[in-house]
Amino acid sequence: MDDSDSYLLSFKGYNVEPTLVDIDQLENADDFEIRDDDVFIITYPKSGTIWTQQILSLIYFEEHRNKTENVVTMDRAPFFEYNIHKLDFSKISSPRIFTSHLPYYLVPKGLKNKKAKVIYIYRNPKDVLISYFHFTNLVVKLQATKNLEQFMNRFLDGKVIGSLWFDHIRGWYEHKHDFNIMFMKYEDMKKDLRSSVVKICSFLEKELNEEELDSVVKQATFRNMKSDPQANYDHIIKEEIGTRTNDGFFMRKGTIGDWKCHFTVEQSERFDRIFQRKMKDIPLKFIWDINEE
Ligand code: A3P
Repeated sequence: MDDSDSYLLSFKGYNVEPTLVDIDQLENADDFEIRDDDVFIITYPKSGTIWTQQILSLIYFEEHRNKTENVVTMDRAPFFEYNIHKLDFSKISSPRIFTSHLPYYLVPKGLKNKKAKVIYIYRNPKDVLISYFHFTNLVVKLQATKNLEQFMNRFLDGKVIGSLWFDHIRGWYEHKHDFNIMFMKYEDMKKDLRSSVVKICSFLEKELNEEELDSVVKQATFRNMKSDPQANYDHIIKEEIGTRTNDGFFMRKGTIGDWKCHFTVEQSERFDRIFQRKMKDIPLKFIWDINEE
């Protein structure tokens, strides 16, 4: 029996996590007051969300960069639709950073004023799938699967939180002219974090000196984030949300091409066929292998 229904709530055709989502926030999203200096980090799950939350928190908040204030990244850059710490967004002082997995058609209308900024981070979907497979087996609120094949079918049917990966990226890409948006690849961040941070700063019109830049880059590496409780979600997923085992971590591997250790040749070829068909008119470039330019 497929019990997906108890793990997914469809809001206007898009799957959200039913127990953590703030439905009022979604229903009233169009009236949500957007400030000109708001920034939205938008991702499909498992594409580098927490990483970007950390980078932006380090760029924007000196207290975060210098560790003079103990605020978890989740509260520096809260999720718009999963406001699990029940923050009053209207009382957050500017500049505000929000994080969201929403599709383009569910975000606040005010973002279309094109003053507030949107950063869309995307990752090659085979690595997204593998990361998501491990994550759903770790976190109690997500539907576990017996094996990769079962998860792959669910992912390709869009029966996961975030719905279909292909729809998410296509929607945002095709509506990019409605927003002040920058697209950025997880893999570019991985290959050259410093240049990626510089690009992000330039989009955000934030000037950092060399020393500040060094500090952002250093604190945003996988290794440092994994050992920094403020920067990773270990506490949140283990203590507040709940995990099935103590063995898994939110910061799992953080690499490019881990899919090669998991996909069979048949699964990889099947995925490629679907990818080619669904993405043929989307000119975004993807990096599938660490050695790829
Ligand atoms: P893996 O499961 O492949 O390790 P999200 O935050 O969107 O849920 O994405 C989580 C993925 O991003 C995980 O991938 C996690 O390890 C990876 N990630 C988080 N911080 C990272 C960093 N600093 N460098 C590289 N990957 C990072």
